[in-house]
Amino acid sequence: MKGRDLSVTMKSSDDNRPREGRPRDTEPRLEAGSSPQLYWLMALLGVLAVWGDHYLVNRAADYHPQVYTPYLSFYEVDALNPKSPGDVLAAKGRLIYQNYCQPCHQPNGGGLPGQFPPLAGSDWVAVPGPNRIIRIVLNGLAGPVTVNGAVFSNAMFDFGKSLTDNDIAAVLTFVRSNAEWNNSSAPVTPEQVAAIRKKTSDRGEPWSAEELLKVPDSD
Ligand code: HEC
Repeated sequence: MKGRDLSVTMKSSDDNRPREGRPRDTEPRLEAGSSPQLYWLMALLGVLAVWGDHYLVNRAADYHPQVYTPYLSFYEVDALNPKSPGDVLAAKGRLIYQNYCQPCHQPNGGGLPGQFPPLAGSDWVAVPGPNRIIRIVLNGLAGPVTVNGAVFSNAMFDFGKSLTDNDIAAVLTFVRSNAEWNNSSAPVTPEQVAAIRKKTSDRGEPWSAEELLKVPDSD
């Protein structure tokens, strides 16, 4: 080994000349050597690095191998997964809202002043039962209506023919339980919508706010 050679060289040196006077190339030097043990160690480290990488990718930081972009962790995907029947309806309702209600009531549910009333924090939405808002979606609403103290005098058309009981339950559950809009009312079931659809089946015109306020919001 070079190391041993080196020490032998140093010990056996009988050159008594002062250091400064020595020619440069006779200075003792450390040189890179090779050792089989070193190769084995490097190979072992390589194997460890590959195994460690796999281990981290699969298990570390709550990262789940079945999770892909844009989700960062399994918990994020899990949180987005519907759990209760109300959550299942709300997840479907988000899409129905985007397709059928958002153009007027806006993506943030805030409506447009003077034209479309808000659904976020609305005092028509945040009541114990959905009896009135189911009727609004089934047959529409026209004429003056006061929402959170502001009067709107516009008209909303009916969705009774274009949306099923399940669709209406879903969109109203999404609206009523939407925490981003500060709404936290109970879900609406397809059975509730079916019952009101049956009760109001002979109605062919939109509701007025005045009429609706006579209907109890819940049974
Ligand atoms: C074409 C625009 C338009 C669309 C689309 C629309 N609405 Fe409306 N909505 C209105 C207007 C306008 C009013 C107030 C009507 C009035 O002035 O009498 C209203 C009122 C309401 C109300 C009662 C008042 C309030 O703000 O809480 C609810 C609940 C409601 N809409 C829910 C919905 C849902 C759910 C959808 C989708 C299925 C929807 N609307 C789609 C225009 C619309």
